[in-house]
Amino acid sequence: MIVAIDGPAASGKGTLGKRVAAHYGLPHLDTGLLYRAVARDALTQGVDLDDAEAAAKVASALDVATLGDPALRTVGAGESASRVARHPAVRTVLLAYQRSFAYGPEGAVLDGRDIGTVICPDADVKLFVSASPEVRALRRFLELTGRGVAVSEASVLADIRARDERDSTRGAAPLVRAPDAALLDTTNLDIDAAFRAAIDLIEAAMSRA
Ligand code: DC
Repeated sequence: MIVAIDGPAASGKGTLGKRVAAHYGLPHLDTGLLYRAVARDALTQGVDLDDAEAAAKVASALDVATLGDPALRTVGAGESASRVARHPAVRTVLLAYQRSFAYGPEGAVLDGRDIGTVICPDADVKLFVSASPEVRALRRFLELTGRGVAVSEASVLADIRARDERDSTRGAAPLVRAPDAALLDTTNLDIDAAFRAAIDLIEAAMSRA
């Protein structure tokens, strides 16, 4: 079974992806980490994030064993990831790894922006997770301050809006709900309720298949 989970920043798709994968005993790939790691490596090597060709070369040399690096979880890493993710050449390089992960023997759960539209258009189940920008900003703000990061809620909201705009309006694989993706709006749901709703949607999709 392949489960594709897409949605904007701080929608809860990462946490849902992890829990859904654990529930079904499937491998899980947070594909945002790939873009974050490419941006990290580019910056380390002094590569301009707007240089598509150089960024694609960095992507080709990516070591996926480094995806657990805590430095990838920062706000700045997400912002830089969004910049390298605009380049079609970078996306093409990362597509192969994502497909091979998805089409392994057991299937997989992948979360990102273009899983249901580009990476796994024939996924067994597609979820599009969303929530209002204000609620996403509040969640991200609480997560960051909980980790001791000093930020204001207003700046987190501004970052989320900017990232939504960039991820949804880029030419290459923009963030868009696949026509056959079930919408899961988590604005008024906590993580447990969102998880139960996700499982219900997955079970419903599998019983239709
Ligand atoms: O989900 P995230 O915040 O870790 O993603 C970081 C950035 O990577 C996001 O702003 C856009 C990009 N991304 C993408 O373009 N395609 C994906 N499948 C996942 C992430």
